[in-house]
Amino acid sequence: MAKPKRLLVVSYSQSGQLIDILAALLRPLAEGVSIRHETLRPQPAFPFPWPFFSFLDAFPESVRLDPRPNQPLQVTGEEDFDLVILAWTVWYLSPAQPITAFLQSETGKRLLDGRPVVSLVACRNMWLSAFDTLKTLIDDAGGRLVDHVALTDEAPALATFITTPRWMFTGRRDRFLGLPPAGIQAAQAADAARFGTRLAAALANDEEKSGRAMLTGLGAVKVVPHLILSERAGRRAFRVWSGLIHRCGRAGQKRRLPALLLFTLYLVILILTVVPLSLVLQRIAAPLLRSRVAQLVRHYEQPSGAAHE
Ligand SMILES: Cc1cc2nc3c(=O)[nH]c(=O)nc-3n(C[C@H](O)[C@H](O)[C@H](O)COP(=O)(O)O)c2cc1C
Repeated sequence: MAKPKRLLVVSYSQSGQLIDILAALLRPLAEGVSIRHETLRPQPAFPFPWPFFSFLDAFPESVRLDPRPNQPLQVTGEEDFDLVILAWTVWYLSPAQPITAFLQSETGKRLLDGRPVVSLVACRNMWLSAFDTLKTLIDDAGGRLVDHVALTDEAPALATFITTPRWMFTGRRDRFLGLPPAGIQAAQAADAARFGTRLAAALANDEEKSGRAMLTGLGAVKVVPHLILSERAGRRAFRVWSGLIHRCGRAGQKRRLPALLLFTLYLVILILTVVPLSLVLQRIAAPLLRSRVAQLVRHYEQPSGAAHE
C-alpha cells in the first residue's frame, strides 16, 4: 500500500471562523492523508474582541510587514511534508501579522522551501493586495503557490461596513438592526468541503508534484473588479500612513495614539467620500479602464480560477 500523503496545515484565526472553514475542507482528507495542524500563537496574543486602541495599533506593523513574533511551533522544519495549506486572514489590506511572522521565520522558510502551497483566505471582502504580499512572502520562503481559495462575507458591503467592526469590537456576529449576521455563513463554510474532496483525489494521483493548480473549476475565487483599483489606492495611502505613525512611536506606545486617531478620521472620511467618488469616477472612466481591469481580474484569479464547472 502507498504511504499516506503528509499534509501540513498552518492557521491563525481569532474568532474560529477560519477554523470552521478549515474543518469542512479537511474532512474529506481525514482518511488516507496524514494531517499535521499548527496553530500560530503570537506572543503576546492579540486580543479578541479587540479594544479600540489595540485594533488601531495593529495597523502600522501589519502594513510594514514588521509583525509580532509567534511562539515556537511543534514542528521544526526538518519533517517531510507533501503539501502545505496556509489558512490566513487579512489585516489592513495585508496578511494578518501572525501569518507574516510565520512566513518570515526560519522555521516557516524551512517548512515551505521547495514545497507546494495551497492558500486559503477568509476575510470581509478585500484580499487582493494582501494576496500579492502573501505570494511574495511565499516566494521569498522558497515555497511554490499552486492554489488559492478566497472566501468572503457575502452580505452587501454597506452592511458589512457595520457588522464587521461590531463583530471585531464586541465579539457578536448575530443579526443586528435588520442587518445580516457578520462573517462567512455556516452553509458557505460547509461548502469548502468541495476543495477537500478535490485535494484528496489530486493527492491520490500525485498531482501536487505537477506544480499545476488542483482546485480549478470549483469557483475558488471571485474577483470584484471595482475593488481592484480601490484596494490599490488604499494600499498606497496605508504605506504612507503606517510610515508616519511608526515614526511617532513603537507598537503599544500610547504616544502614537494621536497619529492613530488622525488615521481613523482619515479612514472614515475616505470611506464616506473618496470611495463613493472613486466608484463614480471608475464608472465614468470604465471604457478607458476596461482592458487594464480585465487584465488585473485575470491576474487575481490565478492560479485556481473563478470558473464553476
Ligand atoms: C485588525 C483587523 C484588520 C482587518 N482588515 C481587513 C481588511 O483590510 N480587509 C478585509 O477584507 N478584512 C479585514 N479584516 C477582517 C479579517 O480579515 C477577518 O475576516 C476577521 O478578522 C475574522 O477572522 P478570524 O478567523 O481571525 O476570526 C480585519 C480584521 C482585523 C482584526
